[in-house]
Amino acid sequence: MAVLLQLNNIRKEYGARAILEDASASFNEFQKIGVVGRNGAGKSTLCRIIIGQEEPDGGTLTFNNAMRLSYLEQHDPYKPQDNVLDFLMRYTGKEEWECGEVAGRFQLKSQSLAAKIGELAGGYQTRVKLTAMLLRDPNFLILDEPSNYLDLSTLILLENFLQEFNGGYLIVSHDREFLKRTCEHTLEVEHGGVFLYPGNIEEYFEFKEEQLRQKLAHNKTVEKKRDQLQDFIDRFRAKASTATRAKSKMKQLSKLKTIEIAHATAAVRITIPPVEKKGGVALSCSDLEIGYEDKRVASGIHLDIDRGSHVAVLGDNGQGKTTFLRTIAGNLKARTGSYKWGTALEVGYYAQHVFSTLHPDDDVYGHLQREAAEDVKRQDILDMAAAFLFQGDDVRKKTAVLSGGERARLCLAGLLLSEKQVLLLDEPTNHLDFETVEALGKALGGYEGTIFFISHDRTFVNLIATTVIDIKDGKIKRYPGTYEDYVYHLECAARGEEPGELSKRESVTSENGTASRKKETDPEKQQDIARRKKAKSDFAKLKRKINQAEHRIEHWTKERDALFEESRNNPFHYSRKRRDRSKQLTIWIEEEEAGWLRMLEDLDRLKKQLAQR
Ligand SMILES: Nc1ncnc2c1ncn2[C@@H]1O[C@H](COP(=O)(O)OP(=O)(O)OP(=O)(O)O)[C@@H](O)[C@H]1O
Ligand SMILES: [Mg+2]
Repeated sequence: MAVLLQLNNIRKEYGARAILEDASASFNEFQKIGVVGRNGAGKSTLCRIIIGQEEPDGGTLTFNNAMRLSYLEQHDPYKPQDNVLDFLMRYTGKEEWECGEVAGRFQLKSQSLAAKIGELAGGYQTRVKLTAMLLRDPNFLILDEPSNYLDLSTLILLENFLQEFNGGYLIVSHDREFLKRTCEHTLEVEHGGVFLYPGNIEEYFEFKEEQLRQKLAHNKTVEKKRDQLQDFIDRFRAKASTATRAKSKMKQLSKLKTIEIAHATAAVRITIPPVEKKGGVALSCSDLEIGYEDKRVASGIHLDIDRGSHVAVLGDNGQGKTTFLRTIAGNLKARTGSYKWGTALEVGYYAQHVFSTLHPDDDVYGHLQREAAEDVKRQDILDMAAAFLFQGDDVRKKTAVLSGGERARLCLAGLLLSEKQVLLLDEPTNHLDFETVEALGKALGGYEGTIFFISHDRTFVNLIATTVIDIKDGKIKRYPGTYEDYVYHLECAARGEEPGELSKRESVTSENGTASRKKETDPEKQQDIARRKKAKSDFAKLKRKINQAEHRIEHWTKERDALFEESRNNPFHYSRKRRDRSKQLTIWIEEEEAGWLRMLEDLDRLKKQLAQR
């Protein structure tokens, strides 16, 4: 397999900060690579350098002549009023029939080809960009977060296309499922470097976990050994007969080294400013009909949602989740019927693509200050910025230079500072790295205000949802069970099975638990007395054994020291017998010491056990 591209010690700095420091890797023809890393790690920067949109500050890129590179544009390369076919022909220089043929692979039929791009739904606009990318007849692709905001059918088309693609690619994505389906290798961008792992995303995570586990296990062993040696030294340093042994243990101790575990960059810790806790209804919808001028999306909506509810708005793509959120946000007019927010409730809305509304001349602090509620202090703004990882000078960064994930974080931070009692969140986890999604989920889970949110991320939904509403076939209803039930029913449907009752299964377990606890009360006391008696006698026995072991160690050490002394005094008189005996003594001493240390630990445990009762 030919190497198509080689990166050698690539370096890229923005101001005083080096984003990439020493990035080296080579990519082969047919290598399908998923690119992962924290927000702001430099993934998009790396893509832009490869594409030639940005110059590295150091290092070299070597392209093979056989490389035919193409990429998915991050920004729209067309104007909304452009006609699809005209744009494709102009942009790629290809004939009409060729454009039509490739567009057909993404199910862009003649009607769509004749349409204005701005009039197409989001997923279809991406299909136009994918067609443009392919028309360049590439053998290597660069795709930076192609799966964000794609509707499910376009996502499946893209997955199928990538699986069959006869060439290699680098795909940046925070979507684990998507990467699993499309990539066989994983490129990690971290701490300014890149690391190519020869396995897919799941194997990569397993590898990372295993690596961490091994390092932790090694360090634990070293720590334990350190404690044992220190214990030994403290115990025997003062005694003349054991001082030498203590000294040698000190030497051993100084040689023990733990492996440094590169700390995953600063952790995101999100705290949401508290809102006033009140009872009552947050939202009530009465015979509401939602949709657009010429299209009804859902009707007959009757809902009463209590304050403090965390409502997961679920349903397949295209069923109208965003339309519902836009309507109750006041962003889209209700067709008929009405909805009403509780008294004095203010609503904050995080829309899809919200960050395209950021002012490019604003800096991070400026944006947050504008969004923040009146009484929010400068320090609160800085704290919130830091929670979303804008630390120190980062708050002076212009929004125009922020990475995708950083923009999403900034908009979320602004929304949280606005201290609204109701949050409407439309796919807030797009662009966010795995760690941030978890931190946000935990923070929202503990939030006392009302939340309506749309998300495809199961872990995230699980952390937050207290109520589920389901949008299906033009109807919006409260789902009678929990999110767990909802997923369970979906899974059963996918397997073609009849679902059992989840709540029943749960109650059986709790009944058993209570019953067994009651029965045990009396015999438990008896057992406790017996256990205590045994612990006492074990303690005495162990002490005796420890004393005996110490005697043996002392005795053998004395003998071995004498043999050493003899050798030192007679350097030219080699005695095999003496050497064998001292070797044997060393083995015995070490074995005895190991046992002795184990017994000391047991003794400590017993001591604690006896002290507890
Ligand atoms: N022109 C610039 N000036 C200053 N800083 C910049 C500039 N361009 C990018 N950065 C910073 O460089 C860092 C890397 O950005 P990059 O877009 O490569 O991250 P990323 O890994 O793609 O992140 P994400 O997962 O959020 O997309 C970010 O902290 C970003 O703010
Ligand atoms: Mg990026």
